[in-house]
Amino acid sequence: MSNNGEREQWGSKIGFILAAAGSAIGLGNIWRFPYITGQNGGGAFVVVYVAIVFIIGFSVMLAEVAIGRRAQLNAVGSFKKLKGGAWAIVGWMGVAAGFIILSYYGVIGGWTIKYIISSWTGLMEAGAAGKAGDVFGGFVSNTFQVVFYQALFMLATIWVVYRGIGEGIEKYCKILMPALFVILLILIARSLTLDGAGKGVEFYLKPDLSKITGDTVLAALGQAFFSLSLGMGCMITYGSYLNKETTIPSAVVQICFLDTMVALLAGLVIFPAAFAFGVEAGAGAGLTFVTLPSVFSKMPGGPLWSSLFFLLVFIAALTSAISLLEVVAAYFIDEMNWGRQKAAWLMGLAIFLLGIPSAYSLTGNFKIAGKDFLDAADFLASNILLPLGGLFIALFVGWIWTEGARKEVSNDGTYHFNIMEAWIWVCRTIAPIAIAIIFWQGLRW
Ligand code: PHE
Repeated sequence: MSNNGEREQWGSKIGFILAAAGSAIGLGNIWRFPYITGQNGGGAFVVVYVAIVFIIGFSVMLAEVAIGRRAQLNAVGSFKKLKGGAWAIVGWMGVAAGFIILSYYGVIGGWTIKYIISSWTGLMEAGAAGKAGDVFGGFVSNTFQVVFYQALFMLATIWVVYRGIGEGIEKYCKILMPALFVILLILIARSLTLDGAGKGVEFYLKPDLSKITGDTVLAALGQAFFSLSLGMGCMITYGSYLNKETTIPSAVVQICFLDTMVALLAGLVIFPAAFAFGVEAGAGAGLTFVTLPSVFSKMPGGPLWSSLFFLLVFIAALTSAISLLEVVAAYFIDEMNWGRQKAAWLMGLAIFLLGIPSAYSLTGNFKIAGKDFLDAADFLASNILLPLGGLFIALFVGWIWTEGARKEVSNDGTYHFNIMEAWIWVCRTIAPIAIAIIFWQGLRW
């Protein structure tokens, strides 16, 4: 269906793994996971989270990759081809979610560029004077600046998607992901060797079983979905560029492993440093863009550590943004017969424009039913579209396309996947029930 003949493919299995890990590893890992863990019982939460990733997350990701590889099409086209009827709606919701998530993800991605630069131009001085919060507030209230950096970030995203699968996404992820791991290790070494780092590690990871409640489990489920990029056809789209020889389950395990490892390691940068300098290990956006600059400002070589850290966040956000744009672009390429260049540019531009209200809402002047536009967009995508998408994807494999899924995951019977039946069973029962519960809980506006 694609207008340039042969469908593009990943050059190697590791290329696919790094691209998919690039999608999964993002702001969700570096910014959200550490503070959610800190708030939800530390080590005990980690145990719950890891169990959920490898039981439910793994199963849904495997389902997505199998669907995509069988159909060799984008999220909408895949459902149309494998089953048709109303199932295409699941793909549609995914494309819509990609559009919406990238609109505000691009805004936050832009902040990381701004912060890489500011690390050398005054952020450290402000941090040392206890004014990192003012810097952040001043920046986000200047919508023109925020949109300028958002535009830079979106241009970088379009640049990569425009180049295609092998020459674009795979090539850049093969450079960026190893760079991300190296920067992460350097920052951990720095953080853990600070005086007083041990208290941060203790706060972060010491299990506090009393904090494990029903809500914790829900927080872990929601976090796992967002962090693994599930429920919106991202892994369907990436799976559609896989050749028929690759064994999918081992690739999916490795993607889940890398994503979880980076999430855990990010906390080992943030908490030891915050505790070593006696900075309140606050939560949310504040932790990354306010607390950390003041921590870095107290270290010798502050600008270097600060800019390295924001470079890390930038890389993580960029490789996720690429996958979000690819979901949307692939739809227009396969279904509307657009060229890749046109799809990347036009959709990138449209998403950028949709992001402007999010950027503006940071001034506090643009609310929808009491929420900033950015938070409302995040709510719609993360709490409604992703869980619903994940629910239907699990049901699709568990009940509708089960024989096809068995064939696809076993490479037409040539590969023995030893937990095949357990996987189908999770898709049939545990995953849909668990997701339905998060969905219900997540509806609280
Ligand atoms: N997984 C990304 C993160 O952790 C976000 C994302 C969600 C990317 C859905 C693609 C699809 O930041």
